[in-house]
Amino acid sequence: MTTPTDFKGCNVLVIGATTGIGRATAIAFAEAGANVAIGGLGEADGRAVEAEIKKRGREALFLETDVRHEAQIQKLIAETVTRWKRIHVFVNNAGTEGRFAPLQDMSAAEFDNIIAVNLRGMFLGLKHEIPHMRAHGGGAIVNMSSNAGLKAIANIAIYTASKHGVAGMTKAAALENARHNIRINAVAPGAVETGLLHRMVDDHVPIPAIAESTPMGRISQPEEIARTILFLASDAASYMTGVIVAVDGGGVAG
Ligand SMILES: NC(=O)c1ccc[n+]([C@@H]2O[C@H](COP(=O)([O-])OP(=O)(O)OC[C@H]3O[C@@H](n4cnc5c(N)ncnc54)[C@H](O)[C@@H]3O)[C@@H](O)[C@H]2O)c1
Repeated sequence: MTTPTDFKGCNVLVIGATTGIGRATAIAFAEAGANVAIGGLGEADGRAVEAEIKKRGREALFLETDVRHEAQIQKLIAETVTRWKRIHVFVNNAGTEGRFAPLQDMSAAEFDNIIAVNLRGMFLGLKHEIPHMRAHGGGAIVNMSSNAGLKAIANIAIYTASKHGVAGMTKAAALENARHNIRINAVAPGAVETGLLHRMVDDHVPIPAIAESTPMGRISQPEEIARTILFLASDAASYMTGVIVAVDGGGVAG
């Protein structure tokens, strides 16, 4: 029986865990007692997260992984399975922001890249994770959507579409696996203090203005999103599947 603070004996794979929310999530799982494998871009960042996991007395594995390449996802999953036999929790967190601009100023190449990472990468992750879970009695998967997956945000139309896509895919995958003891949910954060947020908005909207427009009057820290991911992955959420959980200080409420 896992709880949001107890994942002892579990093996977790977080894809997109070299920085930001994924990094905080990998460390939170290690603090809760899990062995944690991580994928994502950036060798130095990945090694640093690997060291943080080990510092907490857990086993760690890092493989630089680009979710635009199916073979790299397959290799990451295969190496994790070789090491630990079973993966109890997958977190599909890899994401890219694209550019802050009106839709008509975006190129087809930019569209292709955002969709390749945020939506196709999510599809490929699920495609190779689900058979492992079905063969091993089930598990929990948490996908990364966004509050831009629940409502429209101007000037990030492609990102918004990709995160709505993640929400839809999460719900369909949850239905397909509901009788296989696999729960699949997603989190939908509002603005989170990470490199992605700064790259996306810094030249366009001041962060204090985003904080002010949020009902709770602030943006969130990555650890606040990580805690919700651990909750959804744990048996505390045993009757939840196909749900997109907003973690956005009230942003989609009104
Ligand atoms: N920061 C926010 O305000 C916010 C809000 C809602 C949702 N999100 C989502 O949270 C997730 C994490 O973003 P973050 O804010 O922590 O930013 P971040 O840039 O710190 O982290 C992004 C992670 O995804 C990985 N990644 C990017 N492209 C990849 C690729 N092609 N293949 C594999 N991994 C790749 C990066 O290596 C990194 O580990 C993303 O999916 C993002 O869309 C972020």
